[in-house]
Amino acid sequence: KTIYLKDYQVPDHLVDEIFMNVNIEESFTIIEASLKIRRNPEASSNKAPLCLYGADLETLAIAVDGRELSASEYRVEEEKLLISDVPESFEIFTQVKIYPDKNTSLEGFYLSGSMLCTQCEAEGFRKITWYPDRPDVMAVFTTRLEADKKKFPVLLANGNPTEKGDLDNGRHFATWHDPFKKPSYLFAMVAGDLVKSESQFTTCSGRVIDIHVFVEQHNAAKTDFAHGALHRSMRWDEERFGREYDLDLFMIVASDFFNMGAMENKGLNIFNSSAVLANEKTTTDEAFERIESIIGHEYFHNWSGNRVTCRDWFQLSLKEGFTVFRDAEFTADLHSRAVKRVDDVTILKTMQFAQDAGAMAHPVRPSSYIEINNFYTLTVYEKGAEVVRMIHTLLGGELFRKGCDHYFDHNDGKAATIEDFIASMHAVSGFDFTQFMLWYEQAGTPVVEVSSQYDEASGQYELTFKQTVPDTHGQTGKKPMLIPVKLGLLDEQGNDIALDIEPSEQFNPMTSVLSVTQAEQTFVCKQVPARPVPSLLRDFSAPVELKYAYSRQELAFLMANDSNEFNRWDAAQRLMVDVLLEQIKGFKDVAKVAVADELLAAVAAVLSDQTMDLAIKARMLVLPAEQYLFELMNPADVDIIHQVREAVANAIARRYQAEFRDLYQQLNQNKPYAFNFQDASERSLKNIALSYWVRSSDPSAMTAVETQYRESGNFTDRSRALGLIVDYAAMDVRQQYLDEFLAQWKHDPLMVQYWFGLQAGSEKTDLAAIQTLENNTYFDIKNPNIVRHLIGAFANRNLVQFHKTDGSGYRFLADKIIQLNKSNPQIASRICSVFQGLPRHTPERQKLMRVELSRIKSEPKLSTDVFEIIDRILS
Ligand code: ARG
Ligand code: ZN
Repeated sequence: KTIYLKDYQVPDHLVDEIFMNVNIEESFTIIEASLKIRRNPEASSNKAPLCLYGADLETLAIAVDGRELSASEYRVEEEKLLISDVPESFEIFTQVKIYPDKNTSLEGFYLSGSMLCTQCEAEGFRKITWYPDRPDVMAVFTTRLEADKKKFPVLLANGNPTEKGDLDNGRHFATWHDPFKKPSYLFAMVAGDLVKSESQFTTCSGRVIDIHVFVEQHNAAKTDFAHGALHRSMRWDEERFGREYDLDLFMIVASDFFNMGAMENKGLNIFNSSAVLANEKTTTDEAFERIESIIGHEYFHNWSGNRVTCRDWFQLSLKEGFTVFRDAEFTADLHSRAVKRVDDVTILKTMQFAQDAGAMAHPVRPSSYIEINNFYTLTVYEKGAEVVRMIHTLLGGELFRKGCDHYFDHNDGKAATIEDFIASMHAVSGFDFTQFMLWYEQAGTPVVEVSSQYDEASGQYELTFKQTVPDTHGQTGKKPMLIPVKLGLLDEQGNDIALDIEPSEQFNPMTSVLSVTQAEQTFVCKQVPARPVPSLLRDFSAPVELKYAYSRQELAFLMANDSNEFNRWDAAQRLMVDVLLEQIKGFKDVAKVAVADELLAAVAAVLSDQTMDLAIKARMLVLPAEQYLFELMNPADVDIIHQVREAVANAIARRYQAEFRDLYQQLNQNKPYAFNFQDASERSLKNIALSYWVRSSDPSAMTAVETQYRESGNFTDRSRALGLIVDYAAMDVRQQYLDEFLAQWKHDPLMVQYWFGLQAGSEKTDLAAIQTLENNTYFDIKNPNIVRHLIGAFANRNLVQFHKTDGSGYRFLADKIIQLNKSNPQIASRICSVFQGLPRHTPERQKLMRVELSRIKSEPKLSTDVFEIIDRILS
């Protein structure tokens, strides 16, 4: 059943308060809920029945104002419980029985290892109790948990603890009260035998907040970083956004079984272990940064999401796009703005652009969905963040901040819409957002083609922009968008020319941003002394695909000279793409793959550049990913892409073998480990150098790899080394290291996951080896992290093996999807997305994929999650 944004209606009933009594027993839990309900004064009808949602609940009792209802006084339709003729205001009581140990969907109340925890967003609360489970119904929650004291010594829920005590039969209870009204998706509770670590944070107004991080015993040594990251998040949100924390207690719980990264439940964030636990022995630099940003993200939701929430799920990007923007700014402020931008744009261009170009394409604010869980996407999150970033770019930092303050002030305690956010931005700036709103409504990545013309006599330089927005699933005939293009013009020395541009109303000289608004439009730059090299879309000022016929010389020039660090990297990418695509398109035989001199010269220039930040340098030396190259071609043959990319990387490695070796040796200084930007930059460049050195086939490089693996104390260096061993060492040596690693780390679930992922993504791991790994004692299909690392990595990163033209990879994946469809539909549907590239593949592969997709589609009990994706891909 499809749900449409245009059908939105305000709720007929509101809940002011809910009291829950949760009785945890050996193999089931009894939930009693009392809801204080009143008719919504804004509802259209005053006759509407009360509508509560519930799923997989065994209903034991229902009473209205203390009188138990007989079966004829209510009806149950699918997930709804309907009661007619209810009073204006009343109290409803329900008692239900649920089975958390059998709940493998990891939604609602479920068993995670030794603890019980919840995941309610988007619609998991209805798996706990009957409730108007929609985000525009906000209530004050009080939760009383009762359980065996030995098995579950820790009992948590949102808000502040109010009461606790011992009961008969070795049981105990705890009561929690959350004074802030919230929708049910922000509800959380946890019961377990957990280790607590504590710290305190003093807010800007002098309030002392207790911070508690809870983990299972085996994760106890990994919580320090989370405390520090949370303190940094709290301070940063005060300083950058003027947002202070509101409760006296902030809790984080780590769960080894979790579908997504983490969840911002009020005062009680629950995290996937992989998104919160860290120490130098088990965590890479990239993972430290990611964990810090996720801790920030969930914390920032306390304002952008919790204090101001979403009216309905179509508005998801209101909280997610905004909060991703906030967490990206947090990371940029703490570490390096340019590097963070490069990393985010890389993901956007490889993954979100692919989504925009595939069957699942949807606007940042979708207009319909079948299963809302399928819309926690790169488009809603990452493209949504880009849309917020464009507002920031168009308004400037100061007005943007005013707009945020206005939004928080006017919507505090409410369930808002994207229009409310935009209205605040308009209120403080007067900016006309009419055309800009298309960013929320039109799916697909706009293509912007730029051409230039220089007239020596007049000194005028013209830039012409042509934009088109491609047709996408169910959406055609799109309108031109408002595209902010940040630009610079470089003179022969590589310096920026002062910009004087007509029409001046569409150019902001303070920020160097042009507003492109029409399908075709020309801007005139005046007083340009000689033909410049344009630096376009600096900092990736809009999520578009920008095309300009750069010569390779111009790209090399930009790589060396652009004052915009991001665009130096972007020029390197463009040059590499140009060289790689030329070889891929003319591919005959791998021995004939040649590397253009321009690329070799550019690599040499990067290697010898003394001014560049090391982290940017490292990223400029990495060839674009196979997945990205795949998106640029139609049809695309993944084998050829892989062979060419490998051959080009190897050629670069051989050409500069000595330089890479020297660079590695110079940076390999056995410094004590610290996670900070400078050291992480050095390590990233060092390890890039090492990988090229290995590729160059110098036998001493492998010795260096093995030494690094043995002697380094930190996981950044060890994991890079192990990765190279897995990809390049002889099979017996490789196996020896893998066995040793597992023996050393088998007690640590995150390290075991890593071990699966490393192998699954390697070209040397074929399907038979994947199936052997599936039979390993540590493989557990009930654990999403393990599924992602073994099955997800095989399908998404091991292109050669997965896309074998005997169809074995597709058959294997379809089997897994069918299996997961039964136990965990959310995870099953995530894995399906690898098939969204279907129309780009060779006809042979398309046919094989269709066979498997049809087989999945004919499964008798297909979840809405999987159905929606498969149906879209096949149609
Ligand atoms: N709100 C969470 C976050 O972004 C994500 C929860 C998604 N859950 C889901 N079942 N789709 O931080
Ligand atoms: Zn979020």
